[in-house]
Amino acid sequence: MRHSTLRQLEVFEAIARLGSFTRAAEELFLTQPTVSMQIKKLTEAVGLPLFEQVGKKIYLTDAGRELHKTSRGVFEHFTRFEMLIADMKGLKKGALRLAVVTTAKYFAPRLLGPFCQQYPGIEVSLKVSNRERILERLADNQDDLCILGQPPEELEAESEPFLENPLVVLAPANHPLAGKKKIPLARLAEEPFLLREPGSGTRMAMERLFATHRLKIKVRMELGSNEAIKQAIVGGLGVSVLSRHTLALDAPMGQLAILDVEGFPIERHWYVAYPSGKQLSVVARTFLDYLKQAPKFVSEVPCHHAEQGECPLLPAKAGR
Ligand code: PGA
Repeated sequence: MRHSTLRQLEVFEAIARLGSFTRAAEELFLTQPTVSMQIKKLTEAVGLPLFEQVGKKIYLTDAGRELHKTSRGVFEHFTRFEMLIADMKGLKKGALRLAVVTTAKYFAPRLLGPFCQQYPGIEVSLKVSNRERILERLADNQDDLCILGQPPEELEAESEPFLENPLVVLAPANHPLAGKKKIPLARLAEEPFLLREPGSGTRMAMERLFATHRLKIKVRMELGSNEAIKQAIVGGLGVSVLSRHTLALDAPMGQLAILDVEGFPIERHWYVAYPSGKQLSVVARTFLDYLKQAPKFVSEVPCHHAEQGECPLLPAKAGR
């Protein structure tokens, strides 16, 4: 087994990740016979089959799964070593694998812009998924750093808050409660609600608030994206609770209102997290340091009505 080369492991890792010999060959700029030959040699060295084919799909065998874990560890160590050497040479170079929850997509790219300009040698990959999926990736140590709306409770992880994340109640601008002050939560609970999918952190925070007040949410519809929810609100299907950051990009301005409801905004923060005991790469540490300046790069939600002194996206002044 020790005679197997790193190249063979690299080929194996690519097939396991891409689920295809052809795609692995393309990615590595190798011919398919070369790929097959490398895997044949590796399989002989291991002494057990690594893949099995069912129909057109390729699956890892038990031995294959174990080898996949081991090869990922080997490559991680090498990456860390390369970054360490780059750092010793005074270069900030290497890869940064970030995984962020769906709602963080509204600000993460804006944070990454100046970071990539400052460190052109750092290559960033960004994975976007909901909270549940990001927690699975965190447990599996698949990324350098994760960004999510609440520190992980279910697993051992280090986490630091770096930015505010207020959750607000959104309604159509012509909603009868728009402009009203200090609306009781019980009154809001009478409204039909549009909810994010189960596994969403936004949904979890909102359900917690209602449960604390022993109120039931009247669910009109579940939608898997913040964008779809905003459109459904404008379409008059109901109200919802979303991060104020979701208003940053292409919010249907003038068609949405933030309601001034008691207990809102839910004051949350964005956290950066990684598994306890993880050896952070130099690049990941550099990004952690950089996040301390995050508020500088993520400005307030733009409001086209600010100049007129009246902004339908902000609750009435007295309630703020
Ligand atoms: P979500 O997470 O995008 O999965 O809702 C956001 C959050 O945790 O605040």
